[in-house]
Amino acid sequence: MKFGVRLRFLTLVVASAAAPAAAPQSLRQAADSAGVLVGTAVRPSQFPEARYTATLAREFNMVEPEDAMKWWVLHPAADRFDFGPADEVVRFAKAHNMKVRGHCLVWGRDNPAWLTQGHFTPDQLSRLLREHIVTTLKHYEGDVFAWDVVNEALDENGEVRDSIWYNQPGVGLAGKATAYIEQAFRWAHEADPRALLFYNEAGGEGLGRKSDAIYAMVKDFKHRGVPIDGVGLQLHVQKVALDCEAIAANIARLTALGVQVHITELDVSLPVGSDGELVRNDDLQRQAEIYRGVVRACLQNPGCTAIQTWGFTDKYSWIGSSSHHSRGSALPFSRDYQPKPAYDAILRELSSAKKRPQ
Ligand code: XIL
Repeated sequence: MKFGVRLRFLTLVVASAAAPAAAPQSLRQAADSAGVLVGTAVRPSQFPEARYTATLAREFNMVEPEDAMKWWVLHPAADRFDFGPADEVVRFAKAHNMKVRGHCLVWGRDNPAWLTQGHFTPDQLSRLLREHIVTTLKHYEGDVFAWDVVNEALDENGEVRDSIWYNQPGVGLAGKATAYIEQAFRWAHEADPRALLFYNEAGGEGLGRKSDAIYAMVKDFKHRGVPIDGVGLQLHVQKVALDCEAIAANIARLTALGVQVHITELDVSLPVGSDGELVRNDDLQRQAEIYRGVVRACLQNPGCTAIQTWGFTDKYSWIGSSSHHSRGSALPFSRDYQPKPAYDAILRELSSAKKRPQ
């Protein structure tokens, strides 16, 4: 090597060693460097749209089917499973090296009519539920790393909600509080002992009666060896300000029990007019602050291992129909896939997170 060449080579090496690491260009890059999962709910029916899939693969390292693993899609008739749409999600995830979260095996809503109107006895329902859980978990064994086993089983006061699985007529454990939830976790663990099993809930994110009830249930389950690995905090936010300290405190007490926490369905909806436009433009900044606060509350606790939004573009969000089009604009990307202030806030938080041991 000539001296001049060697000098240039050395300068290059020294310069690259001294240069600060390039700022992450996507949520995914930032999350990979931080050692956390950043995910989103997806609709396989949108996969033919190039901008949808390009954004999805670039920005996220985890996906969850928004509806494709619910009973009404997976189990359209008593004697038939349809894994087609959910398999598409799994194929997409594999092709892009993403993890898959499963959602959800036991819920009082989004069930097919053949089930809800079938007049089954508790004994029959118990067999149907067990078969559903086992068939689904076996089908996705090794592909789905974590499952929402039971979704939204508690009411605002922390009492077990009435549902087909609990007491209408239930699987034979009506009146026995969380016993049917426990049963579902046990069946799921038998079917796929390696999958992480989560209880997922809405409105129990901060401190209050509902989150106290979740905490008490998880504590009891851990104490008695019921196979539960995590709690999903949905975080569909409608408020203009959110008490993120209470969320951090709740995450801290849950993880202290030895379970993980995932933020599972984060979106922050804003009031919109009949034209679909925002009522107040500065809402986007407030929204960004809420996203920032939630991401920070998760990242500051090593037991909070995933942050997931409920969709990513305002073009496809459940908020419109569920609010009768009075709210919207809930997600980090606009309808035309432009990053919003919320996106920048999440990226900044992820980028400044301390790397976690894998
Ligand atoms: C919603 C989906 O986003 C909609 O597409 C569907 O029509 C209804 O369900 N809590 C949950 C999610 O656990 O499954 C719900 O998803 C939103 C509230």
